[in-house]
Amino acid sequence: MAEVEFGFQLATRVVFGAGAVSGAGKEAASLADKRVLLITDAGLVAAGLADAVVEAMKRNGLDCPVFSGISANPRDQECQDAAAAARETGAEAIVGLGGGSAIDVAKAAAALVTNGGRVKDWEDPIRLEKDPLPLLAVPTTAGTGSEVTWVAVITDEEQHYKMTLLDTRIAANVAVLDPELTISLPPRLTAATGMDALVHAIEAYTCKASNPVSDALALRAVELVGGALRRAVADGADRGARSDMLLGSLLAGISFGNADVGAVHCLGESLGGVFDTPHGLACAVFLPAVLEFNAVADPARHARVAAALGVETSGMADSEAAAAAVAAVRGLMSDIGIPSLRRLQELSADDTEKVARLSAEHVCSPDNARTVTYDDYLALLRATYAA
Ligand SMILES: [Fe+2]
Repeated sequence: MAEVEFGFQLATRVVFGAGAVSGAGKEAASLADKRVLLITDAGLVAAGLADAVVEAMKRNGLDCPVFSGISANPRDQECQDAAAAARETGAEAIVGLGGGSAIDVAKAAAALVTNGGRVKDWEDPIRLEKDPLPLLAVPTTAGTGSEVTWVAVITDEEQHYKMTLLDTRIAANVAVLDPELTISLPPRLTAATGMDALVHAIEAYTCKASNPVSDALALRAVELVGGALRRAVADGADRGARSDMLLGSLLAGISFGNADVGAVHCLGESLGGVFDTPHGLACAVFLPAVLEFNAVADPARHARVAAALGVETSGMADSEAAAAAVAAVRGLMSDIGIPSLRRLQELSADDTEKVARLSAEHVCSPDNARTVTYDDYLALLRATYAA
């Protein structure tokens, strides 16, 4: 192997295991004396998962008011409202419970409480002036990895694009990962969020910003998610599959947090910013075409992705194995019911150009495995829409 130079960081203490949520109160008690604010979504309140967290806080002497005004692609106003709730209740720390949306709002709110202003005022490349409130993250999907990353993606409602907060200090202090919390996730959401985790792992491994540690985590994440996603979709109560998915999503999150993502996320976030498309699906639909486009830039890496997905690659040339990775991804997406782009979102010629332009301007685009231009994005969008 050639000489390498890199940095690697993990800002979050991780507690993982079936039933781990019962210990969340003890973890939170290391971050606050009297009161935490739970930020979650209304669905998780209705499902009773929020109650389990509130009870865990109370058992450790912490008062735990709940803010649940979160939507699927979280907006800047929701972060303002959550920060106001934290100030009004006198919360000393924030607990974020949910998918990436709730945890990203929790990160943004924790930052706004101490730094003031709006999300827009702290958009990347601006860095925070003060440390946010401490944060404990409890994911309920195996997808975003937001519990261990220091990025939050928030939709600007006025201009319809996704803003990024990027600062190591917004990372959760503690992440409590309990696969039991993902058991009730319906098959469609399991499929969409699981594909997000797979895309994180594949893009982290193939992007230009990868390093040896992120590579090791990413390949293991591809194995775990590739091996468990069908089972988790087919039988939500398959505890082994749920555990593998949550672990895979965690490893993928740590990996891409220290590397980057690529063109799949540039397209997916641009589509989601304009049309409010669910993030996991918005990314998944572009994965096959981007893999096909990228493979030529590094066939050996794409061949290793194929092997991690379980493809028998011995005797294959790297370019053949890379093509087999695309076929494996298409097979997986078909088996778990990921819709086509055309079914997901109708796009006019103007829409396509707009999404291509936003993708080319996306902050992650320069790290894509292969140099990708506006014209390339246009071609990727058209090919995916026609497929
Ligand atoms: Fe993602």
